[in-house]
Amino acid sequence: MHFLSEEQELVRNTARKFAEKHLKPGVIERDENAEFPFEQVKMMGELGFMGIMVPEKWNGAGMDTISYTLIIEELSRVDASAGVIVSVNNSLVCQIIVNYGNDWQKETYLKKLAGGRQLGAFSLSEPQSGSDASNLHTVAEKSGQYYIINGTKNWVTSGINSDVVIVMALTDKSAGYNGISTFIVPKDLDGFLVGQKEDKLGIRGSDTCELYFDNCRIPIENLIDKEGQGFRIALATLDGGRIGIAAQALGIAQAALDKSVQYAKERKQFGKTIGSFGAIQEKIALMGTNVEASRLLIQKAAVLKDAHKPYTKAAAMAKSFASQTAMDATIDCVQIFGGYGYMQEYGVERLMRDAKITQIYEGTTEIQQMVIAREIMEN
Ligand code: CAA
Repeated sequence: MHFLSEEQELVRNTARKFAEKHLKPGVIERDENAEFPFEQVKMMGELGFMGIMVPEKWNGAGMDTISYTLIIEELSRVDASAGVIVSVNNSLVCQIIVNYGNDWQKETYLKKLAGGRQLGAFSLSEPQSGSDASNLHTVAEKSGQYYIINGTKNWVTSGINSDVVIVMALTDKSAGYNGISTFIVPKDLDGFLVGQKEDKLGIRGSDTCELYFDNCRIPIENLIDKEGQGFRIALATLDGGRIGIAAQALGIAQAALDKSVQYAKERKQFGKTIGSFGAIQEKIALMGTNVEASRLLIQKAAVLKDAHKPYTKAAAMAKSFASQTAMDATIDCVQIFGGYGYMQEYGVERLMRDAKITQIYEGTTEIQQMVIAREIMEN
């Protein structure tokens, strides 16, 4: 895009080359066998992709949010599982510590997470608490120099392969969302148990699991910011996360568009390429327009975030629009491929399966619409 800076273009090309060279080989097998891309995550750490927006002082790449979205888009265009692993580590884990952590927490945890030496996960949801995110049951009771955590967390991306998890828990059960606090919890503590790997419809290369806390003692130094601020911290951080998931959706949609165009130009039926038929052109025109519109919404949210202007509404719009685009574009892509599209080896049915989660995690489309409507009506 012509309005990207030279540096942003370079970042995009680096991510594109990396994805083509290191993510494309084996992507179908990793999906089929639900294999985590360990090697690739290590390489992405070396490229600075695990701490894209983290200042260099803390081992990050010191880049802006546009660069972050370009990297997530390019990775997800080839392998959306890699996209979410990188997105969660960057926008939900590193950003919480950058924005709310103290220097000790940055020195001890952020440096390793941003430099790719450790992987992070974020756990807010619980069995009874998805969209109604403040309805937590996990408790963190203060006892001397420790908090004792008890409870269950659900659907934790990278829950199995991470080293450190950001955990939201109640430090005051009677205070509603004002009783929620945020902790940095290393995985090697006693009483921290990791559940079974979930068997998922899509993004099968990324791991998802439940986490259980059974009298897990965490030092008080691991509390982020102050007691009672955890819910606001989680929601503010999710605003940034939603830009990342929008970029993941955009990458999936762009892949569907690219594959559809290529196939429509090659495949012949009734003596003509199928791209010469209006029915196919209509699908491609709609896909192309929605992909562009998604990209613009994502860039708007990223620019507002970097300018330190309110971006809650922009992020919710970008996520809901881009994830709908990913779903529609991948369904149309499979349709354009016809019988071949339904077969695993063409790699388009995977796009359709991967697209679905972008309408669910980091706030469902229905929650994004609630956020957008509130923002429009209240401001
Ligand atoms: N930024 C900062 N603070 C915010 C905020 C935001 N975007 N939105 C709300 N708040 C503040 C409010 O101002 C309020 O604080 P004050 O009392 O000081 O004013 C407080 O948070 C509570 O706000 P609400 O009354 O609006 O809270 P609510 O209970 O009505 O919930 C919601 C609002 C938008 C529905 C929210 O619960 C939500 O976003 N739900 C979806 C949860 C979600 O996205 N989960 C994703 C899980 S993580 C995941 O998927 C990770 C993964 O592994 C990929």
